Amino acid sequence: TTTYPFYGEHQSGITTPAQDRLHFAAFTVSASLDRAGLIELLSDWTAAAARLTAGLDVSEDGALGGPDIAPPDDTGEALDLPPSGLTITFGFGPTLFTGQDGVDRFGIAARRPPGLERLPRFAGDALRPEWSDGDLCIQACADDPQVAVHAIRNLSRIAFGRASVAWSQLGFGRTSSTSTAQKTPRNLFGFKDGTANLKLEDRSAVDEWVWAGGEDVDWMRGGSYLVTRKIRMIIEVWDRQQRLEQERVIGRSKGEGAPLSGGTEFSEPDFATTGAAGEPLIDPTSHVRRAHPSNVGGIRLLRRGYNYVDGSDPLGTLDAGLFFISFQRSVGNFVAVQEAIATDALAEYLKHIGSAVFAVPPGARENEYIGRRLF
Ligand code: HEM
Repeated sequence: TTTYPFYGEHQSGITTPAQDRLHFAAFTVSASLDRAGLIELLSDWTAAAARLTAGLDVSEDGALGGPDIAPPDDTGEALDLPPSGLTITFGFGPTLFTGQDGVDRFGIAARRPPGLERLPRFAGDALRPEWSDGDLCIQACADDPQVAVHAIRNLSRIAFGRASVAWSQLGFGRTSSTSTAQKTPRNLFGFKDGTANLKLEDRSAVDEWVWAGGEDVDWMRGGSYLVTRKIRMIIEVWDRQQRLEQERVIGRSKGEGAPLSGGTEFSEPDFATTGAAGEPLIDPTSHVRRAHPSNVGGIRLLRRGYNYVDGSDPLGTLDAGLFFISFQRSVGNFVAVQEAIATDALAEYLKHIGSAVFAVPPGARENEYIGRRLF
């Protein structure tokens, strides 16, 4: 079983090879929480996360060591399970700084990163408040769903009275590779997803596109910005399209995942190549054409999303899609790419129903809490 260290220069769960399962939670801080209380919560979360990622109970007393007549510290469902590659990643939403009511309760309003703002409205957005925004977030990823759920459940318990879950999302079947050692998985439209993603082995590209740098507020250096988009996929309509049409919409072949200009999965797409009738082999409205760095000023994102299926809706259609997650050095970089794809050929089969953005501070050193440099 794999174990990833919790402490380090960057938080884990970003360039960590994407695990199979996700439990993501957004939190609302309670109205009575003050600066000292917030720092205490972050300290408690940090200590618990360091234990959980090591495969330990949430506290020394844990599930079984406490008094017989008290509820156990740890809920116990991960007792016999290995660490399963668990990573726990913390983020701060715009409203943590500005306050839901405009009151600077934590004394951090002046330290808000200038780019940390709710995303603008994009064409076709159908956002729902119950899957959007949050003061704080925790991303738990693991190769075992029970381990990820156990982490969020116990961290939520620790926050009792200080912060509560606003919404949370389970995900399976990572839809991205973040390491060249990983085989490219497929999304629910049946296409390989993650082929052209940033990979941890490409250190200079990760440094350039993922980690916040000198242009940012000092406490964010070595951190990153996390965007979530809950994207409902209109599965039944997609499933009735001819394969060639599906491939045109994406810009890649369904089997190999090769660009329609030719080659194999990792060949560079060539947007200039034309077919017999003079039409470009990769449709200019395809998802890959619109999202490609050459169309968005060179920008690259680290995509780290998961498939979700939340059962079926009352009409019998699958309540399913992509819980898109990406990490980037600035929120503006995400906005530029999303703007470019908001009206691509794929958009007809999608509905963006949730949206959130968080500043992910750099990693903590041992004996330090996550986000310490902010306070
Ligand atoms: C590439 C599917 C949403 C950004 C791809 C690929 C597929 C895909 C199949 C080609 C393989 C690959 O390189 O990974 C989807 C589906 C989506 C979705 C089904 C929604 C349900 C998004 C969103 C963004 C995005 C919201 C960012 C705003 C990208 C980028 C690439 C890509 C940057 C790589 C383009 C390149 O460099 O060739 N996507 N995607 N995708 N997608 Fe998406």
